[in-house]
Amino acid sequence: MEQKWWHDSVVYQIYPRSFNDSNGDGIGDLVGIIEKLDYLKLLGIDVIWLSPVYDSPNDDNGYDIRDYEAIMHEFGTMNDFDQLLDQAHARGIKIVMDLVVNHSSDEHAWFAESRKSKDNPYRDYYIWRAANDDGTLPNNWGSIFSGPAWELDEATNEYYLHLFSKKQPDLNWENEQLRNEVYAMITRWLDRGIDGFRMDVINLISKTPGLPDADVAPGALYGDGGQHYVNGPRIHEYLKEMNDASFGNYDVLTVGEMPGATTEDAILYTDPARDEVNMVFTFEHMDLDSGPGGKWDVLPFDLQKLKDNFTKWQVALHDKGWNSLYWNNHDQPRVVSRFGNDTMYRVESAKMLATLLHLLKGTPYIYQGEEIGMTNVAFETIEEYEDIEIRNMWQERMAQGANPEALLQAVHKKGRDNARTPIQWNAKQHGGFTTGTPWLKVNPNYREINVERALEDPNSIFYYYKKLIQLRHEHDLVVYGQYALLETANDIYAYSRTYEGETWYVYCSFAEEETTVEVAHDTTDIIIGNYATAPTNTDQEVVLRPYEAVVYRTE
Ligand code: NOJ
Repeated sequence: MEQKWWHDSVVYQIYPRSFNDSNGDGIGDLVGIIEKLDYLKLLGIDVIWLSPVYDSPNDDNGYDIRDYEAIMHEFGTMNDFDQLLDQAHARGIKIVMDLVVNHSSDEHAWFAESRKSKDNPYRDYYIWRAANDDGTLPNNWGSIFSGPAWELDEATNEYYLHLFSKKQPDLNWENEQLRNEVYAMITRWLDRGIDGFRMDVINLISKTPGLPDADVAPGALYGDGGQHYVNGPRIHEYLKEMNDASFGNYDVLTVGEMPGATTEDAILYTDPARDEVNMVFTFEHMDLDSGPGGKWDVLPFDLQKLKDNFTKWQVALHDKGWNSLYWNNHDQPRVVSRFGNDTMYRVESAKMLATLLHLLKGTPYIYQGEEIGMTNVAFETIEEYEDIEIRNMWQERMAQGANPEALLQAVHKKGRDNARTPIQWNAKQHGGFTTGTPWLKVNPNYREINVERALEDPNSIFYYYKKLIQLRHEHDLVVYGQYALLETANDIYAYSRTYEGETWYVYCSFAEEETTVEVAHDTTDIIIGNYATAPTNTDQEVVLRPYEAVVYRTE
């Protein structure tokens, strides 16, 4: 496979609203990001992915875009953006933007036109339908943010489709003119000098013609329309067309956020010969702790399922496509709370999880705060949560008679605001994020967990991430080596990577007591480990301490 710059890159995701506030309005901003570029340079990352910074009424914190070519007022100006780009490039850091084109804001100029009349030239940019003859909604699909996926618009007495909130009407990709406008917009950003795109729910843009009703799961209020829009009929055609018309002409990184994409789909999306996208974000490993009732029906963590899933992806995409690797983003709970132990073994388990992920094959993504082991938050009341997904879900379930305590616990475990509490820079008020009042409360553990402390401690999670990033930069084995699962006890995840005659063995313990693993290789050459001393070896056995990670190398 031809080597690419993004093969050995590590990406750092910034959620600008929660990153660093430079002007005291309680909301992070672009100048705040510029102030922290040296911090990111020290960490050693190659690329920043910026969650949306475009003009938006913020119904879904910027994932509802009003103007694709203007900067959100709270975040600064286009001049600040150009400064950020220049300053990042001056440090050798690339910038990837979010591309949100499954839907726009209902305040976008296209939608303002579209809703005016049935014969408006922009009408067909969105998906409009009349009610059925019996007065029911055009189909039975539910919105991903609760309620039906249809909203009545009085002006023309028709409904528009919104897979997400009412303020996020879906764009109609069947319309060629719309597609061309999107490609031209992408090209203008690339000409401005950005280095690629993370493409929001991009595998939802093609819907089954006729928008048929979907199956309704037992106990569900609406049909799961996903069967008619996830990896829809024209998706590969659209991505190829987009690639040809825009980013395919530039040496940039493209990553498609793709809920419901299997390994077979991912091979099609990322096979370099097909010219679609470079890599996809799968959701399979993020869904392992969801029960039949979905995201809020939380199951206990099951390491075996994780091993099976990662192994399936590592093996399937080897030499056929390209993986992305992530534990966290702005939609997911904090990994140290989810799959580790965020109290007794916070530091050990955060480093172990980092080892596991960063030595796999693929492009790793670090989400802001992960590099200091930030944890989930447990606000006491639902009013303290800001996220539209949480709020809508709460309203719907309370109306159905759900138990508030149990539901609040599910929010503590899975809510998106776990990832969105502001970055804890130091032990000062509001963790040094703002001199004003933060838009979302800071996690109360900021005095103990913060960047300043991490930078002072040579054994911190931060410096461990830095080492892992360096290993990827220095060893082709980490980038291109072949993966194999090693059979071990239940609480251990062990795998090897082999490249040009050299093999690395990665052992990660999820146990809270000592666990002995058999090894069939030399154990003297340790590449990295998360304890200060090497584990005890007894004749082809290694005793791993709680949440220990250790990597051996043999030639
Ligand atoms: C996926 C994004 O990551 C999420 O934050 C957003 O709410 C939805 N897409 C809708 O844009």
